[in-house]
Amino acid sequence: MTKVTFYGHACFNIESNGTSLLFDPFFNDNPLSPCKAEEVKADYILLSHWHMDHLGDTLKIAKSQDAMVISTFEIATTCESRGIRAHPMHLGGKHNFDFGYVRITPAFHGSGIPGGHACGFIVKFYDHVIYFSGDTCLFSDLKLLGQLEDIDLAILPIGDNFTMGIPDAVMATEMVSPRAVIPMHYNTFPVIECNPEDFKEQVEKRTEAQCVILAPGETHQLSIE
Ligand code: NI
Ligand code: MN
Repeated sequence: MTKVTFYGHACFNIESNGTSLLFDPFFNDNPLSPCKAEEVKADYILLSHWHMDHLGDTLKIAKSQDAMVISTFEIATTCESRGIRAHPMHLGGKHNFDFGYVRITPAFHGSGIPGGHACGFIVKFYDHVIYFSGDTCLFSDLKLLGQLEDIDLAILPIGDNFTMGIPDAVMATEMVSPRAVIPMHYNTFPVIECNPEDFKEQVEKRTEAQCVILAPGETHQLSIE
């Protein structure tokens, strides 16, 4: 059984078989987070880019729990230089871990670190394939990701201004063709306010995907197909 918990913004925990993956662990300065960085468990931290609303509490959590950061080369080596265990990868690369594998996907966005590139992740996590896009605009190669992998769950931004907004995220869902989609990166700050119900309505009208809206602190269970 795989549990997906949302902490607001782009911060998620995916847990199964006693292994926890944290995505973009923005807790202590996240106005939507129902808990603090000190309360969460992490074995791995998948960090999409070095903007503060994603980097968040990465260094603190990685240090206190000896969690391994998985990210692009520039970010992973910066973490290593600060005494944190990290696994450097880059766009298009895939690597096996004890839970399955991680494939690094492109994201069109600033990296927040010199010479870097923002990224997303496709994670084979035990029985499920999860696509976490990171902060990105809509781009047509999303279609390739949907062809390369049989994606159970896509996690996509909908808040506009810094990333794709709702109409673009609906088109992204069409291209990735996941079984389910969870919206992220909205309502954290006034500039990214939107109604996720509008996204759900359009996604379920135009695609086969089920849209799951999670309030911060809520968990969604992925069933085995
Ligand atoms: Ni960003
Ligand atoms: Mn962001």
